[in-house]
Amino acid sequence: MTGMHHMLVHFPEAFWALATLMILIGALLPGRLAELSRAALLPVLVLSLLGALAAIVSGFLIWPLEANLASPLARNHILMAFWSLGIYSTITVLVWRTGEAAFDGTRRWVLVVLALIGGLFFATTGTLGGHLAGATTAFSEVLGLLGWEVYTTFYSPLWVIAVMVILGLALGALGLKGRRKAG
Ligand code: HEM
Repeated sequence: MTGMHHMLVHFPEAFWALATLMILIGALLPGRLAELSRAALLPVLVLSLLGALAAIVSGFLIWPLEANLASPLARNHILMAFWSLGIYSTITVLVWRTGEAAFDGTRRWVLVVLALIGGLFFATTGTLGGHLAGATTAFSEVLGLLGWEVYTTFYSPLWVIAVMVILGLALGALGLKGRRKAG
């Protein structure tokens, strides 16, 4: 059964990587490729969420919860899976509600910031999964430099919380600015 999770996780990881790339191309480049990226983004995002749900459900069905929660490595893996799901769900709702207008003017920067954070989150989910399965990656060295030792750390460093608060305020300010401009 473990093979099922190993197989299913490729769907969210690949669709999230593709969606992130499409957002960056759609927001930052001119031309046909950018137009296509903006037009095709929503289906890719929807597929990524379906893939993520399948991966998450398989994780909970295959391994007993007690085993999952016993190690900081597995807890962080699950936590990052939910953070990734949360951020790409937000992006999906934004793109679904506003269509290609999500890329207009300053709005595009909200998508870019969310996509970059999402990219970091799903890469972390995957790298922690790799550690669980015994397939380690160099990306965890980067996490280590940031104060996150993958086998033992289970907390949010203070600076992460500070960055999250600053980002939240910045995104809120951008939203208000956009609304005032529209109204
Ligand atoms: C979006 C959701 C998820 C993604 C993208 C994901 C990704 C991954 C990846 C890439 C691996 C390594 C597989 C390999 O090297 O072949 C992995 C392993 C693992 N994942 Fe997940 N995962 C997700 C959700 C979950 C959840 C919700 C749980 C538990 C409730 C879980 C538990 C595990 C465990 C225990 C392993 C180690 C497997 C082993 O030892 O063979 N994952 N995951």
